[in-house]
Amino acid sequence: MWLHIEFLFVSFLVIIFAICSSALNYIFVAENEDFFEDCVNSKSNVLNFDGIVNKSELSFTLHDEVILVSGNVTFIWDIQPGDRVQATFKTNKYDRGSWQLTPYVMKMQDFRPTLFDKDQHFYKFWTRHIINVEEIKETIFYPGTKIIHEPFDINVTMEFTGVPVSGRYKITTLLKAYDSNNLPRDTSICFEVIGEVDRL
Ligand SMILES: *[C@@H]1O[C@H](CO)[C@@H](O)[C@H](O)[C@H]1NC(C)=O
Ligand SMILES: *[C@@H]1O[C@H](CO)[C@@H](O)[C@H](O)[C@H]1NC(C)=O
Ligand SMILES: *[C@@H]1O[C@H](CO)[C@@H](O)[C@H](O)[C@H]1NC(C)=O
Repeated sequence: MWLHIEFLFVSFLVIIFAICSSALNYIFVAENEDFFEDCVNSKSNVLNFDGIVNKSELSFTLHDEVILVSGNVTFIWDIQPGDRVQATFKTNKYDRGSWQLTPYVMKMQDFRPTLFDKDQHFYKFWTRHIINVEEIKETIFYPGTKIIHEPFDINVTMEFTGVPVSGRYKITTLLKAYDSNNLPRDTSICFEVIGEVDRL
């Protein structure tokens, strides 16, 4: 009897594993054409997307579920050259009427080099479209740095292995700057992107 149950249990695990181990492709479609929304209940020293860059020369246009980006941004966040910028990304899923934090949380103590790492999503989806990359590689995030983009689509597709992840998500980005003594600067940045994750 026990053996039988054990056998069933093992078969069940094998089936679950087989289902879960096939990687599925997903696309993230932002809800809002402006892309970046303000974080709720932020303290007064937490700035929104407009606190990090001047985006008056940047345009976002939504077409066929893909956002077309073109133009430039100039950093205006009041930090100093040489500061370390720490990035945290949190993912909430909309479930039964409220946002629930998911285990998809990522923290990078030094975000700048990660942005230009060819194996990272940031490179694939964004920084490879920066025309003046050599010029801004070391100074990105510091006030006055201007990033010039070639026009590009934000077509965020990703592969996930495991349980299906489709649904409505909110991705929160938090940026904090630290001086050479590891003391945080007065202001930090928080913005969110809300969208739908769909199977391709
Ligand atoms: C953004 O840049 C434009 C053009 O360079 C300028 O007119 C505007 O005052 C700037 N806005 C901010 C908030 O710095
Ligand atoms: C972006 O900057 C480049 C170089 O400064 C300039 O030629 C171009 O017109 C700018 N694009 C926009 C949309 O302002
Ligand atoms: C987005 O990327 C996916 C996978 O790379 C591709 O199948 C799809 O055609 C792309 N969509 C657009 C509108 O470029």
